[in-house]
Amino acid sequence: MRTPIMAGNWKMNCDNEEAAALAKGVVDAVGQVADCQVVLCPPATALTTVAECIKGSKIQLGAQNMFWEEKGAFTGELSAKMLLSCGCSFVIIGHSERRGRFGAVAEDFTEELRRVFGDTDASVNRKLKAALAAGLTPIVCVGELISERQAGMTDAIVSDQVRAALDGVEADALPDIVIAYEPVWAIGTGEVCDAQEANRVCGLIRKVVGDIGGASRAEAMRVLYGGSVKPDNIDELIAQPEIDGGLVGGASLKADSFAALVNAAAK
Ligand code: PGA
Repeated sequence: MRTPIMAGNWKMNCDNEEAAALAKGVVDAVGQVADCQVVLCPPATALTTVAECIKGSKIQLGAQNMFWEEKGAFTGELSAKMLLSCGCSFVIIGHSERRGRFGAVAEDFTEELRRVFGDTDASVNRKLKAALAAGLTPIVCVGELISERQAGMTDAIVSDQVRAALDGVEADALPDIVIAYEPVWAIGTGEVCDAQEANRVCGLIRKVVGDIGGASRAEAMRVLYGGSVKPDNIDELIAQPEIDGGLVGGASLKADSFAALVNAAAK
């Protein structure tokens, strides 16, 4: 049995005061929940604040991004060691927004401006390896754009992203990696992916991982779904055999809705 994960990706929301209030709300509601790993991923500025708030609870801390080098002249970047020193045990890597691939927001970003969010398959691979080497659990995001889905390219895009992310990773490390299937068109749009289809793609991800490192390692890996997960659609998603939890944006910004998701996954 794989332990489910419910991870809240707060994105660029919450100053420190708001982050403390939200984290305390989550701790009060589901701080001691068993049978589900709960991960809060606040913005980097709030990591230490949230770390303080979740002390004594079972809730774990994650960052939204990291850089692969240990230190040096990389203005604005954060290393795995820095995240560990803030209390992180998880890190999101290669979120579609960091890859410059947006679902609902930022339509007015020109091609040039999108380059601010510069992750590629190659940088995701480096970040993933650096996270593993440091002992952080990476949550690696993959997923297709609406145009790619309409062109029948979903399976090829997702498989390629998984293979590229895992390139050169030791087979024994595969169970320590979490992959999140996040169809870009479902992120922040309110348009959740059909549960059976999400299950199918999560199964495809597990098969690709199995081809790389063997079926038993793939069976041990957690595969999450992300994209407009809400209290009113979580039951159907979490009931799917290939879906081991959620990576949640909007619905993680309120303690009660996030707690409802955690409780659904912990059932
Ligand atoms: P959403 O975001 O739940 O707001 O759609 C999910 C994500 O980007 O991880």
